[in-house]
Amino acid sequence: MKLFLDTANLDEIREANRWGVLRGVTTNPSLVVKEHAQFLTLEKEICSIVDGPVSIETAANDLDTLVAQGREIAAIADNAVVKIACTPDGLGATKKLTSEGIKVNMTLVFSAAQAILAAEAGAYIVSPFLGRLDDIATDSLQVLGEICEIYDAQGYETEVLAASIRHPMHVVHAARLGADIATMPFKVFQSLVKHPLTDRGFEKFMSDWREAKPNLGELPSSMQEA
Ligand code: G3P
Repeated sequence: MKLFLDTANLDEIREANRWGVLRGVTTNPSLVVKEHAQFLTLEKEICSIVDGPVSIETAANDLDTLVAQGREIAAIADNAVVKIACTPDGLGATKKLTSEGIKVNMTLVFSAAQAILAAEAGAYIVSPFLGRLDDIATDSLQVLGEICEIYDAQGYETEVLAASIRHPMHVVHAARLGADIATMPFKVFQSLVKHPLTDRGFEKFMSDWREAKPNLGELPSSMQEA
């Protein structure tokens, strides 16, 4: 399962990129507004940092405007993906943009029925929102599982992206259910690597090493200072 960041913050994207496991970024209007930056400059910079798809959201809900916005968003960079909400006009715009070779991430998906529509419209990615379903006492993992099962049964090529992730177990469950991608806030991304036994084990290895180092003879040059 590919790991994406759900952010428009450049520092977070640069830091996650350093780990070597970042495969893409998703942004939305709320995340972009938080950065108080110029929209185009910011999205271009994100696209240039990330080696993978960067979803950039449209801001309209009529078919013609969505198609016009989609074409301009796709022109921002080769890795730009157009994010469109799952509405009747959004589906029509997805079909049109897809026929022009433009990649669409169908967002604000909350049911398997909507995910079937997204795939039929030719979306490159479908984004079911886990956290927001949990917030209204609906089992988000059941919905995600249904989508993965239906996509397998039907042979849909649309990639399933688990969105609205709130904690590391959402990521683990999404992987078990067969999601292709999970997008998450930076704090969840950081929490994936954290384990107290890793920290404790590392400290112990290092203290044993420092204590014994004078008696270990010749060391590789890069280990002499450690
Ligand atoms: O970008 C879409 C989605 O991941 C938003 O998540 O936390 O605002 O529900 P959230």
